[in-house]
This record gives sequence, structure tokens and C-alpha cells, in this order.
Amino acid sequence: MSRFLFYIFVVYLKLVYAKSGFLDNAATANADFTPCSQNTSTATLRIVLVIDTSTNMGSTNLRQIGLSLSSELSEYTISNKTLDTVCADTYCWNASNSVSYNSNVAIVTYSDTYTLVGDFSDFASNADVNSALLSLKPSSSNSVNGLIGALKLAYNLSDVSDPVPFKKSLAVLWFPASVKNLTLFEVAIGGRTAMYREELVAVNYNPNDRNLTNMLNQLEIPYIFNKTQPNIYDNIHWALLQLNCHCGFNVEFQPKVYNKKINQWEKTADCFIFKVTKEDTKFCQNHPEIAIDSDVKFSAMQEAGHAYNITSVILGLHKNNKNQWMWYDYNGGEFQMNNFTKWAPNQPSSGDCVIAKTLDNQETTPYLWYTMPCNLTHSNTDTCQVLACDASRQWFCGLGRYY
Ligand SMILES: *[C@@H]1O[C@H](CO)[C@@H](O)[C@H](O)[C@H]1NC(C)=O
Ligand SMILES: *[C@@H]1O[C@H](CO)[C@@H](O)[C@H](O)[C@H]1NC(C)=O
Ligand SMILES: *[C@@H]1O[C@H](CO)[C@@H](O)[C@H](O)[C@H]1NC(C)=O
Ligand SMILES: *[C@@H]1O[C@H](CO)[C@@H](O)[C@H](O)[C@H]1NC(C)=O
Ligand SMILES: *[C@@H]1O[C@H](CO)[C@@H](O)[C@H](O)[C@H]1NC(C)=O
Ligand SMILES: *[C@@H]1O[C@H](CO)[C@@H](O)[C@H](O)[C@H]1NC(C)=O
Ligand SMILES: *[C@@H]1O[C@H](CO)[C@@H](O)[C@H](O)[C@H]1NC(C)=O
Ligand SMILES: *[C@@H]1O[C@H](CO)[C@@H](O)[C@H](O)[C@H]1NC(C)=O
Ligand SMILES: *[C@@H]1O[C@H](CO)[C@@H](O)[C@H](O)[C@H]1NC(C)=O
Ligand SMILES: *[C@@H]1O[C@H](CO)[C@@H](O)[C@H](O)[C@H]1NC(C)=O
Repeated sequence: MSRFLFYIFVVYLKLVYAKSGFLDNAATANADFTPCSQNTSTATLRIVLVIDTSTNMGSTNLRQIGLSLSSELSEYTISNKTLDTVCADTYCWNASNSVSYNSNVAIVTYSDTYTLVGDFSDFASNADVNSALLSLKPSSSNSVNGLIGALKLAYNLSDVSDPVPFKKSLAVLWFPASVKNLTLFEVAIGGRTAMYREELVAVNYNPNDRNLTNMLNQLEIPYIFNKTQPNIYDNIHWALLQLNCHCGFNVEFQPKVYNKKINQWEKTADCFIFKVTKEDTKFCQNHPEIAIDSDVKFSAMQEAGHAYNITSVILGLHKNNKNQWMWYDYNGGEFQMNNFTKWAPNQPSSGDCVIAKTLDNQETTPYLWYTMPCNLTHSNTDTCQVLACDASRQWFCGLGRYY
């Protein structure tokens, strides 16, 4: 399958799951999970700034965006390196020293037409980006007909020639002030926004414009903020680091938790990989079965398991030679089971390993635990666990890094 088709397939999966609420509706908060890194200085992103320079934005707002962005982007390490590692073949377990943690920036502006201010290779440093941002010129036109071309260009730019495993995460940071008479269809399909909306962060610079506000909502962009929100850049950093936190490009599930501070659901850095394809099975040879050691992971397992019609899953829970129940952690080490348990009635019974089963495939039915002998061959619906790639972890992480 060509890389492009593969990508479409992945995006299709994402849209299907998002539509079914699969990605949006996850576990209860405040239990054990691994947070995604919040370290902007080690973010590993391709950030495309798409900025409306029409009269709807106006020169004051444009100046404000330029000043704010140049100050906020100084938290990131901006370079013009396109390859983030010298290890350009499939398996890269030893690549830790060659991964460079930096972000690339490109800038596109639009009014009646679109303009490429600079692509990823044009900005070698934070200073380069700042000088471009502070020299943005307002247009004298009120047309935003260049929007669709600008969004297309943003995605064209991101389609650079890195080998897939080492692609940086894309983030399109879009500052619209109007959509004029553009239709939803034109923006969604013409701008490829429907396919790629997972990577869009929109900052509505004209929230009183109902056409714009409605369209942003109808596009179902996952991260929409508006100019009048307090701490807007805290939210933008958070969204960018969420985009930087991913399990890979395959059948995977990443639990979400509710972040009360910002009132948004957020991805965790925990990934469950389901052995659905040959690649998943191959990948899971290097990773242990999942540890369901908290409510967050228990609920996520239930949601994901039902979504994949999986009735039973072998867990990482097992007895060690001291007869203690142990979980595997991400690197294959062990840690003792805590007081979080979900034994089925009359369990544990004989057998030193554990399988989680759901009695029917109703969404509300939990996956309870049953002991079993450890010598059973694994079924093709097992899972394994891996930590997500994020701003602090770009090696030994995620699924996409290895295939
Ligand atoms: C972010 O990463 C940098 C570079 O590795 C490190 O020096 C810094 O301490 C980290 N900051 C936080 C808050 O972890
Ligand atoms: C990692 O490096 C070690 C020592 O150089 C080597 O023995 C091992 O095969 C390498 N592993 C992989 C997966 O390349
Ligand atoms: C990155 O910037 C440096 C300094 O401006 C330049 O020498 C180099 O050619 C650039 N690299 C790329 C890939 O554009
Ligand atoms: C995007 O790329 C396609 C295919 O390479 C090309 O036909 C199209 O003109 C490009 N669009 C823009 C806006 O650069
Ligand atoms: C909103 O859309 C309507 C219908 O297309 C149009 O008549 C109106 O001028 C638009 N308003 C703005 C502020 O663009
Ligand atoms: C939008 O308005 C422009 C002129 O302002 C016009 O040329 C264009 O045909 C209009 N598009 C639609 C879809 O109505
Ligand atoms: C913009 O943000 C403010 C403050 O959070 C909120 O009250 C308002 O409803 C938002 N407007 C839109 C259009 O989302
Ligand atoms: C799960 O099973 C249901 C009912 O049998 C079916 O409609 C659905 O497509 C299946 N889902 C998957 C992901 O296989
Ligand atoms: C589980 O143990 C922790 C401390 O180890 C304790 O705070 C918590 O209350 C216990 N939970 C239950 C349900 O016993
Ligand atoms: C697994 O172990 C159980 C008892 O420990 C034994 O009865 C059974 O034959 C074994 N099965 C296989 C496939 O080795």
C-alpha cells in the first residue's frame, strides 16, 4: 500500500471512530495514567501557521498575533532540520542518541489569494520565525478566497519526504477572521480539512462572526479556541502538545482523561495496541500485555474492546515465583498488583495467568478477570502496551516508529 493510501486509511479509521464517539468518550478522571509530556522545549512538531490577513482580521489583530506568536513560539526549539534522526531504516531501537527534539515552522497567509511566507526549510531558528511574524503585512482586500489554497498548501507542506516512522507530528495552527461566502463543503473538501481535521487547531479571531463560528463547529475541529478566552496561549500549547502525543498509525487505543483545569478531555501517553493485523502481532512481540491497574485503563479497555468486538484479552497479570500477583510495566519489568482488581465472581482460581472476558458484547459489560494456565497460546485478539511518542519521548515509543 502506498504511503498516501495508508495515510488515507488511517484518517478514515480516525473519522469513523470519532463519529461513533469512540475517541471522545473515555474513562473517569483522577486514576492512574501516564500524562503526555508538557515540555514545549522538546516538542517535535511540524507547525504550519495559517493566518488570515484580510481586512476582516485587521492590522491591529494581525500585529497582536505576530507579537504573541513570536513570544510563545520562543518556548519551542525551532530548526530547519527535516529528518529528526539519522536512523532511517525500519527498526530503530538504538536511535536514542540520534533523535533531535525540535520543531519546524512554516507560515502561510491568505486573503483573496494565499502566500507562502516561508516553508519548513526557511526558518532555521526562533529568530527567523520572529522576524517573519513581525513583518506580516495586512491585505487591503476583504476577500478570503485564498483560504482553501492556504489549507491545501499547509497539508502539502507537511507531506515531506521523511520516512514514515520519523515523521514529526503535524499541527496546523489556523487563525481565521472570516469565511465570507465560502461554503462548508468548499472549506472541508477543498481545503482537505475534513480528512485532516484531527491536526487542526483553530483560533477564532472573530467570534462574533456567526458564519465563521458555525463553520468551525461544523468542521468538527478538535481544538477550537477564540480570541476572547483568557490564557489562550496556554490552551494552544496544550493542544500542540496533545498533537505531539500519539501512539502511532495503526489500530491502537489511547485512553483519555478529563482535565478539570482546562475543561477538556485529553489524551494520555498510554497506548493499547490490538493484535488485529500481522504488523500488530509482530510489533507486540517486543511489548508486554497490558496492565489494567487503574480505573482509567479499565474503562478504556472496555470501550476499546467493545469497539473492536473483542470478547477476551490476555492481561499482563501473572504470579511470580513468590506467588505474588505482578503486572508487566512498559519496558517488560514487573510491579506488584495494587489494590485495583476486577476479579470475576469466584476468582482467582487455579492458574498463574489472567484473561479478561466480557460475557456478551454489550457496551456496558465489563471485562472481568479469570485465572488461566500460562501455557495457553495467545489468541489473535490480544493486546500489548507501549508508551506514546510525545515531546519527551521520540524513541522506544508508539507503534508508528517501527513500521
Ligand atoms: C524540558 O526539557 C528540557 C530539555 O531536555 C529540560 O532541560 C527541562 O528540564 C524540561 N522541562 C521540564 C519542565 O521537564
Ligand atoms: C543495538 O546495539 C547493540 C550494540 O551495538 C546491538 O548488539 C544490537 O543488535 C542493536 N539492536 C538493534 C535492534 O539494532
Ligand atoms: C538550515 O539553515 C542553515 C542556516 O541558515 C542552512 O545552512 C541550511 O542549508 C538549512 N538547511 C535546510 C535543510 O534548509
Ligand atoms: C498540493 O499538491 C498537489 C499535488 O502535488 C498539487 O497538485 C497542488 O497544486 C498543491 N496545492 C498547493 C496549494 O500547493
Ligand atoms: C454570512 O453568510 C450569509 C449567507 O451566505 C451572507 O449573506 C453574509 O454576508 C455572511 N456574513 C458575513 C459576516 O460574512
Ligand atoms: C462569493 O463572493 C464573491 C464576490 O464577493 C463571488 O465572486 C463568488 O462567486 C461568491 N461565491 C459564492 C459561492 O457565492
Ligand atoms: C469565546 O470565549 C469566551 C470566553 O471563554 C466565551 O464566553 C465565548 O462563548 C466564546 N465564543 C465562541 C464563539 O466560542
Ligand atoms: C462489531 O460487531 C457488530 C455487530 O456484530 C458489527 O456491526 C460491527 O461492525 C463490528 N465492529 C467491528 C469493528 O468489527
Ligand atoms: C488503595 O491503596 C491506596 C494506597 O496504597 C489507598 O490510598 C486507597 O484508598 C486504596 N483503595 C482502596 C479501594 O482500597
Ligand atoms: C498447560 O498446563 C496444564 C496444567 O498446568 C496442562 O494440563 C495442559 O496440558 C497444558 N497445555 C498445554 C497446551 O501445554
